[in-house]
Amino acid sequence: MELIYLDNNATTRPLPEVLEAMRPFQEEFYGNPSSRHPLGGRARQAIDRARDQVAALVGARPDEVVFTSGGTESDNCALRGVLEARRERRHLVVTAVEHPAVLETARRLAHEGYEVTEAGVDADGALDLAALRDAVRSDSAVISVMAANNETGVIFPLDEVAAIARERGALLHCDAVQAAGRIPIDLASLPVDLLSLSGHKLHGPKGTGALVVRRRTPLAPILRGGHQEGDRRPGTENVPGIVGLGEACERSARFLAGRGWDRVAAQRRRLEEGLTAAIPGSVVNGARAPRVANTTSIRFPGTEAETLLLLLGEEGICASSGSACATGAIEPSHVLRAMGLAPAEARGSVRFSLSRFTTEREIGRVLALVPPAVERLRALARSGP
Ligand SMILES: Cc1ncc(COP(=O)(O)O)c(C=O)c1O
Repeated sequence: MELIYLDNNATTRPLPEVLEAMRPFQEEFYGNPSSRHPLGGRARQAIDRARDQVAALVGARPDEVVFTSGGTESDNCALRGVLEARRERRHLVVTAVEHPAVLETARRLAHEGYEVTEAGVDADGALDLAALRDAVRSDSAVISVMAANNETGVIFPLDEVAAIARERGALLHCDAVQAAGRIPIDLASLPVDLLSLSGHKLHGPKGTGALVVRRRTPLAPILRGGHQEGDRRPGTENVPGIVGLGEACERSARFLAGRGWDRVAAQRRRLEEGLTAAIPGSVVNGARAPRVANTTSIRFPGTEAETLLLLLGEEGICASSGSACATGAIEPSHVLRAMGLAPAEARGSVRFSLSRFTTEREIGRVLALVPPAVERLRALARSGP
């Protein structure tokens, strides 16, 4: 069966060039970058190059890049690291639609005695800037706001958030896991203090990522051990992974600069227009807000996304719902709920996330297969249990 992979916000296919770049560091150049012999030196050089490549993607300085095991670690270390370094400030602000890597960390911190405010979004998923401004206090250590939402693709106005953070002396952490390589991010002009990114969301290897820490940002290391990454993240470096991440960042920067996402945006438009025209009552979540080009979340009233995804899976279509499986029950997406959707509307929403590998033929297949699948489920619901 031909697979149609439209779940690129969950993970992306590694680029062949990424795998190619990694191989010598798995087979031949396996030295420890901290070793002072030629094999160690070869690994060190490779890491230096990757650091330049990652920094270039987001307009940072190479010495500001700290390699981590991915977005989750970067997010955890940013929040906990700042709080530990700024002990006089006990408050933090996050948005209600952050990824669990931020949201659950913040909730755990609240349990540990910090004060946490969750700023909301409007019906389009856009950040409520007035509420955010009200939430920030003189003892706020850090504000954590994502660059683009993983479920809806909605982009947040980081410039304006940065201005609010500055007013109150709070640091700004940005989870850019779904934005890096998809929209331009230039830390040379954007005053974000800490930025998380993840390799496997931009056609790099899983288990790789970075936390970009701007100069003079107070940050305590969360892991303790050796002196790697300038004492900011100990542990022998994942050299092949870091090399792959660097290559993926360089290729993503090129794709972005070459306006590669324009084609993906056109495919998404075709998908959204086709599905909403063919399926009565269907609505694109967050359609009126600025969004990254590859993501669409569409609700199909009268259906359960989980069941729809099973039917689509039988046809080879890989997509997802934002629902989380919590304690045996299916919890509707916290992102869609924060946008004001009723639980049933949230549970009837499917996310399709495209990539540079998506083809017109695949979009055509989805347009042919989704409407009858939705109709089948609606007919079943009408006929009762
Ligand atoms: C916005 C966002 N932040 C963080 C993460 C976690 O990244 P990782 O899978 O590299 O731990 C994800 C992954 O889905 C994400 O979408």
